[in-house]
Amino acid sequence: MKMIKRLLTIPMVFTMALSLASCGSSTKGESADSQKAEEQTPVEEPAEKTEETASVQEETADAQKVLVAYFSATGTTKGVAEKIASVTGADLYEIQAAEPYTEADLNYNDSSTRATVEQNDKNARPEIGSEDVSMQDYTTVYLGFPIWWGEEPRILDTFVEKYSFEGITVIPFCTSGSSPIGRSGSNMEALAGSGTWLEGRRFSGDVSEEDLKSWIESLN
Ligand SMILES: Cc1cc2nc3c(=O)[nH]c(=O)nc-3n(C[C@H](O)[C@H](O)[C@H](O)COP(=O)(O)O)c2cc1C
Repeated sequence: MKMIKRLLTIPMVFTMALSLASCGSSTKGESADSQKAEEQTPVEEPAEKTEETASVQEETADAQKVLVAYFSATGTTKGVAEKIASVTGADLYEIQAAEPYTEADLNYNDSSTRATVEQNDKNARPEIGSEDVSMQDYTTVYLGFPIWWGEEPRILDTFVEKYSFEGITVIPFCTSGSSPIGRSGSNMEALAGSGTWLEGRRFSGDVSEEDLKSWIESLN
């Protein structure tokens, strides 16, 4: 009986020893792997990916920075500018006259009124009263205005001479009683002396966002 017990005990002890050894080695292996993972994965790879992703996002955000700058004496162009901003997700900037235009100033039936006198003088440069805009932050600028005597109001000339449009695509748009945008875009492009100027377009005040969207898509 003693002999039988001894014979049974030897293989059991041997098997336990073996399984303990293999268990021990597998635990050691796992902890070595996880230690490696701790050393490499969290520190090196994601850190690099995060920086990379952030810089791509910044570039994309920069690439899409759009401004709608506009002058509007009686609110019609302002309405169109707001619709363009809504369609494009652009920032809005109002070009305000330091000395606001009164109703009398805008009376085009009287040749001695301010707006008409300014339009008759190519060198008139009405002062801008609104705060400066950080133009270099933008890559696309929609530039809106009403037509006065067939072209852009002189305060637009003040605006385009004031800023550099280097690296910026400028897209003029206007509202009017019926006149087309005419030579307004080329006038301003010449005065600005920088930027890529696209052909502008005239809209009526009640243009829909849908129509503006189609126009904007056609520019690409
Ligand atoms: C001084 C002055 C001159 C204008 N000249 C023209 C013109 O030559 N052709 C035209 O169709 N509309 C003309 N208009 C009408 C405006 O272009 C039109 O009402 C415009 O939509 C007004 O925009 P706003 O409300 O943004 O100022 C003139 C308006 C003013 C005040």
